[in-house]
Amino acid sequence: MLMTREKPKIIKDQLRFFNENAALEKPDLVAPFFLEYVNKEQTAGFAWLGDREHILDYGCGTGTSIDAFFSTNPSGKNLFVGVDIADVAIQRIKQRYPNFSFYTIENNRIPQLPNGSMDGAYLLHVLHHSHEHEAIFREIYTKLRPGGKFFLSDLSSDNPIIRLFRGLYVLSPRFVTRRFSDDLVVDGAIPEKYKVDPGAVVAQLEAVGFSVKEVSYGHLFLFFFSWFDRFVPLSRFAVFRALYSALWAVEGWLLKFRFFQKNSEVFCVKCIK
Ligand SMILES: C[S@@+](CC[C@H](N)C(=O)[O-])C[C@H]1O[C@@H](n2cnc3c(N)ncnc32)[C@H](O)[C@@H]1O
Repeated sequence: MLMTREKPKIIKDQLRFFNENAALEKPDLVAPFFLEYVNKEQTAGFAWLGDREHILDYGCGTGTSIDAFFSTNPSGKNLFVGVDIADVAIQRIKQRYPNFSFYTIENNRIPQLPNGSMDGAYLLHVLHHSHEHEAIFREIYTKLRPGGKFFLSDLSSDNPIIRLFRGLYVLSPRFVTRRFSDDLVVDGAIPEKYKVDPGAVVAQLEAVGFSVKEVSYGHLFLFFFSWFDRFVPLSRFAVFRALYSALWAVEGWLLKFRFFQKNSEVFCVKCIK
């Protein structure tokens, strides 16, 4: 009898994962209240970059970040160049934004782009899927003009609640996992996440020449309610939205303290060349 080996629930090959993930259609499973919450750091970064004309999206994926950028900056004046290791993602984003330039890259180099040609750049959720961060920062630095702005937002992969639930996710039945099919999931499997130390990131940014202007933190515990909301959508009711808003404010207050910053999932850095 032929035995079929069970598919791994955590995919270690990042390139394979992101090529497969790029080919999927994603449903809308997050309620508007929590969408605003989960995107708030990114929204603030996009507002900061809004005055830039030529912007590099490093690790652009299929284009959700450009969609979000234009929701924050609806003037439509910004012009994008996007790069990614995943060729399937690049083919999809080219169809969605035919007036911008997109390139599949290797080894953290963008030979297609002249040095000093970008007014701004961002890097969203790439570091916890990649190594050689300093090489990425150096390449972005090289492509920016002097005075160019760079915003990065990433995950430390070190929040205790998220670590616990990632462990449980791979054991969960299908009725649970299908509630997360809008996320980074391919056939119930999720990609490996590497830990990222915000302090080391800041040191590497400074080592390549950036002047770091601000480091901020997000996502301590409120996202847990957003997961619950996928099963029991309490955020449809004003009274729960008021309660969640109060918890949001508490989380923001806690994140002023070093202990909570060290346990937060998201960190963001704004810097200038
Ligand atoms: C979690 S997705 C984020 C996509 C997009 N930045 C966003 O926020 O919607 C990570 C992306 O980074 C890309 N990636 C991973 N390592 C990379 C590297 N070294 N250089 C360029 N892109 C990379 C992956 O292919 C994937 O598209």
